[in-house]
Amino acid sequence: MDNILILDCGSQYTQLIARRVRELKVHSEILPWDVGIETIKDKKPKGIVISGGPQSVREEGAPSVSNKLFDMGIPILGLCYGMQLMTKLMGGVVGSGCKREYGRTGISIVDSNAPIFSGITSSFEVWMSHGDHIDQIPPEMHLLASTHEGVPAAMANEDGFFTGLQFHPEVVHTQHGIDILANFLFKICKCQGDWNLGDWIQRMVVVIQDQVKDDSVVCGLSGGVDSTVAAVLTQKALGERLECIFVNNGLLREGESEGVLERYKRLNLKVHYVDASEVFMRSLKGVTDPESKRKIIGETFVRVFEKEAEKIQGAKWLLQGTLYPDVIESGHTGKGAAVIKSHHNVGGLPEDMDLEVLEPLRDLFKDEVREIGRLLNVPFEIIDRHPFPGPGLAVRCLGELVTDRLDTLRAADSIFTEEILRTGLYDKMWQAFCVLLPVRTVGVMGDARTYSEVVALRAVESQDGMTADWVRLPYDLIDKVSRRICNEVRGINRVVMDVTSKPPSTIEWE
Ligand code: XMP
Repeated sequence: MDNILILDCGSQYTQLIARRVRELKVHSEILPWDVGIETIKDKKPKGIVISGGPQSVREEGAPSVSNKLFDMGIPILGLCYGMQLMTKLMGGVVGSGCKREYGRTGISIVDSNAPIFSGITSSFEVWMSHGDHIDQIPPEMHLLASTHEGVPAAMANEDGFFTGLQFHPEVVHTQHGIDILANFLFKICKCQGDWNLGDWIQRMVVVIQDQVKDDSVVCGLSGGVDSTVAAVLTQKALGERLECIFVNNGLLREGESEGVLERYKRLNLKVHYVDASEVFMRSLKGVTDPESKRKIIGETFVRVFEKEAEKIQGAKWLLQGTLYPDVIESGHTGKGAAVIKSHHNVGGLPEDMDLEVLEPLRDLFKDEVREIGRLLNVPFEIIDRHPFPGPGLAVRCLGELVTDRLDTLRAADSIFTEEILRTGLYDKMWQAFCVLLPVRTVGVMGDARTYSEVVALRAVESQDGMTADWVRLPYDLIDKVSRRICNEVRGINRVVMDVTSKPPSTIEWE
């Protein structure tokens, strides 16, 4: 199997390089910049990428690599800081000062025969993020491209075996970025491109077995894609030694706990089901403030989970479905031990739990996890389902959480979902749900005056949940949903629609 090593000098984009290499169907492995040369040799890489990094190569103690790296007969690609490091080690000059560039920059290719730029137009836009720049490229190298400001943007030796790029080809804002990486992998390193995520699964199964040894693992399942895929993968590695806990907090959607349990049964997962609805309802009695609701739900979850986990004999590990974006958000990237990450899907687990954390998905992005889930036969109802917040319907049932109001919301929400599924729009949007407002309005039903609550419809499209726009649903669909909700759900006499984007609103109402 072809292997590309990525030497991490601390860039926020290192995982993105690995991801792009995976997209091109080549296996890659990230190692810290100070890994020994013998380890590198043992890995038999087809190529090495030196990543970017936040420091200056001119600083004392900044990440560096051994000069011996250049004597191994292995192609090397230096990106940003990596290019500057190559420059320093190969006898060029790196300067600092007025030529800083951040964001989009135009570059022009001056050597169109360079293998790294094979098949690429002569001028294009790239993503830069550097303070230092190359003042003088090393004697062995020649210029391949420069920015419109005259800063060296790319360099290589005669056969392109050693190539440096001042910009980030791994970032989507760089035009032809993926083609440039493909040129490195296939034209320079001669990789085959025959690796796939199925191979990743096989490798990770062995990693989990080596890590956990003969111990047992406990996992909090939410019914969502991340925790389910993590569990199915770990089950493949450990079988019965994985025990899962699924807590029903009474804030799930209609039929959800039954549906989730049935799906887990099909997956042969060993699940401890805890119906803690009453405990949650008691803790939430009289609470209307959104932040207090979230806090109480988080704390109650921890108590319920801990109590159940104590029943599992010999559990030494806590499995979590943490993904790379969660790792970035919590700042736990690069070298250093994993800290317990309070995964918001399971409400946040306490740091003092006497369990080690197992996070097999922590290097992956959501779409890769979905793909792995498909390969592991995780049902599509889990893989393709809309995101559902950890605090559940609590953040959609505005005002006090009482069972009657939650049931009303559940009934309205299930009508909305059913109609969206019927129109085939479900997979085309990020999320759609109902919100129950603590507002009563006057209506008339069968000649009688009503004074009932209001349901708001919320449907959004989004790439990552960070920003979102409201979906322009067909009028016929809105009409049908509105009529069905007023006719079929007791206690509702008015339906409105949320037509705000994020920002200024958030997707959830609380
Ligand atoms: P907001 O409301 O912040 O939501 O625009 C962005 C996305 O995150 C989901 N969300 C949550 N997911 N735990 C979760 O697991 C939470 O506490 C939580 N709050 C919001 C929300 O559904 C949307 O997709």
